[in-house]
Amino acid sequence: MDTIGILGAGAMGSGIAQVAAAAGHDVVVCDNLTLALTKSGKNIQATLKTLVDKEKITDAEAYSLFSKIKFSDHMSEFRNCSVIIEAIREDIEQKQIAFKSMEAIVDEDTILASNTSSLSISAMGAQLRQPERILGIHFFNPAPLMRLVEIIPAIQTNPDVIDRARQMINSWGKTTVLAKDTPGFIVNRVARPYYGESLRMLDEGIADEATIDWALCTFGGFRMGPFELMDFIGNDINYAVTEIVFQNFYFDPRYKPSFTQKRLVDAHYFGRKSGIGFYDYRSGAVKPLPKEDESLGKEIFFRVLVMLINEAAEALYLQIASRDDIDMAMTQGVNYPKGLLAWADEIGIERVVEKLDALYVEYLEDRYRCSRLLRKMVRENKTFY
Ligand SMILES: NC(=O)c1ccc[n+]([C@@H]2O[C@H](COP(=O)([O-])OP(=O)(O)OC[C@H]3O[C@@H](n4cnc5c(N)ncnc54)[C@H](O)[C@@H]3O)[C@@H](O)[C@H]2O)c1
Repeated sequence: MDTIGILGAGAMGSGIAQVAAAAGHDVVVCDNLTLALTKSGKNIQATLKTLVDKEKITDAEAYSLFSKIKFSDHMSEFRNCSVIIEAIREDIEQKQIAFKSMEAIVDEDTILASNTSSLSISAMGAQLRQPERILGIHFFNPAPLMRLVEIIPAIQTNPDVIDRARQMINSWGKTTVLAKDTPGFIVNRVARPYYGESLRMLDEGIADEATIDWALCTFGGFRMGPFELMDFIGNDINYAVTEIVFQNFYFDPRYKPSFTQKRLVDAHYFGRKSGIGFYDYRSGAVKPLPKEDESLGKEIFFRVLVMLINEAAEALYLQIASRDDIDMAMTQGVNYPKGLLAWADEIGIERVVEKLDALYVEYLEDRYRCSRLLRKMVRENKTFY
C-alpha cells in the first residue's frame, strides 16, 4: 500500500488522515505547529473511541488504524509518500510555498493534491517544476463521514494523475465527481443560493429566520434550514466562502454576500461555536417559532429552489461538471434530498423559467437572469434525464 502524506493537522487534515489509514495506508501527518499535531492525534483517538463504543470497529482495529498514522513537524518525512494532500489554511501564497517545498522532497511521480475549498489549483501548479502532478482533491467536513470528494484537475494536470487519484479515492469508499478548476468547484458554487436567497428574503422582511428554515425543511425536505446551517458551518466560514466566490466571479450579483451575515461576523456571532449567530444557543435562550403559513412557506421554498436549479443548470451549461456529477455532488456533499437537475425535471423546467423570469421582471437585477440552458430546454421540450 502507498504511503499518504497529509500537510496540515487541522480539522480536515486529521479527518483525511483517518480515512486514508482506515483504507489501509500508512499515513504521515505533518504540521508546523507541534500543538496542532498533538491535538490532531487526540481528536483522531477520540473519534476512534466513539466508533468502538458504537461497536462499529473493534478495539484492535482502532489500535491498528491509529498506529498507521505518524505525526511529524518536518516535511522531510514525506519523502516516501506517493500522494500528498495539502490541508493547510486557505491562503494561496502559503499553499504555493508549501507545494514548492514538498516538490523538492518527493519522488518525480508523487501526486501533489490540495484540499482547498475555493482557490485556483492551476495557480498552485504554476509554482511547480512538474505542474502536471498537481490536482484538487476536495473532501467535505467531516471527512470520515461525508462520502463526496470533488476531483479538480488544474489546466496543467496530466490525465494519468487524475485517473490514479480518482481510483485511489474511490477505493477509500468515497464517491468522486470531476469538477472544472473554477471558483467553488461544484458544491460551493451551486449551493450559494441556499444561503444567499434566504438572506435576501430575510433582508427584505419577507420572513424571519425560523420561518425560512421551517419552509425549506417542511416543503423542500432539506435536513437543515439555511440559517441553522450557516450557524452550524460558522458564519465566519460561510461568509468567507461567499465573499471569495463573489470576488472570483468578477462580482457577479448572483453571488453577492449579505450585510446581515457580515455584521454577525463583525460581532463574532459565528453561530453554534460562539453560542450565538442567527439563533441564540446560550443556556436559557428560547428558540423562536416559525410562522407556519403554508402559502408563504411554499413561496419561500420555491424561490430558493429555482435559484438553486438555475445555478446547477448554469454549471452544466458552462461545463463545470457533468449532469450526473452535479446531482451527485449536491445529494452526497450537502445532503440535498434530490439532485437539482432531477428536481427540475420533476417540477417542470417551464415552471422554473417562469418563476425566474417573474423575479427578473420584478427586480430588474442580473441576479435573477435565467440560464440559457433552461430556456433552450423549454423551447426544445427537453428534460435533463
Ligand atoms: N473546515 C472545513 O469545513 C473545510 C472543508 C473542506 C475543505 N476545507 C479546506 O481545507 C483546508 C484546511 O482547512 P481546516 O479547516 O482543516 O483548517 P485548520 O485551520 O483547522 O487547519 C490548518 C492546519 O494547517 C497548519 N498549517 C498552516 N500552515 C502550515 C504550513 N505552512 N505547514 C504545515 N502546516 C501548516 C495549521 O497549524 C493548522 O493545524 C483549507 O484549504 C480549507 O479551505 C475546509
